[in-house]
Amino acid sequence: MHEAQNENPCSTEARMLWESHPDPAGRLFFVLNSLQERHRFISSEAIDELAREAGVERDEVESFVRFFDAYSLEAVGDCLIEVCDGTACHARGSNRLLQKFESLLGIREGETSADGRITLRRVHCVGSCSSAPVVVMGDETFGKVRVSRVCDIVGRAMRDDTD
Ligand code: FES
Repeated sequence: MHEAQNENPCSTEARMLWESHPDPAGRLFFVLNSLQERHRFISSEAIDELAREAGVERDEVESFVRFFDAYSLEAVGDCLIEVCDGTACHARGSNRLLQKFESLLGIREGETSADGRITLRRVHCVGSCSSAPVVVMGDETFGKVRVSRVCDIVGRAMRDDTD
């Protein structure tokens, strides 16, 4: 039995999702996908609750969340820019792209702009290696990105964001 009184809303939501998917197969994925989709990140309280429900150590759930690029432990801005740093993209200069994004946005990779609008991330292979280096922004994928194109992508992010 759970203490419903004074329970954190994130914990309650995680528990309700967990209970709504009684089939153990894919249960954790289901809950994490739902939370990520709704809030764009997985809260610390949700991780605590899921560890309790699953009867495992908190670190196990957190490691699981950290392993997948699709999940975030911090709130993500309205616009997410992901710079692929898989092997092919790395070999084709993804680091230079990241540096350019960082300097234009004034944030480091993994951070969100002060106004909470744009998040920059370094991610593992996004599956478009033949177009390396690749940048993903929302539903759009940019291939064979050169440093000179980063400014255009940032401009687009800012325009999309203010629409
Ligand atoms: S390494 Fe970047 S798309 Fe595969």
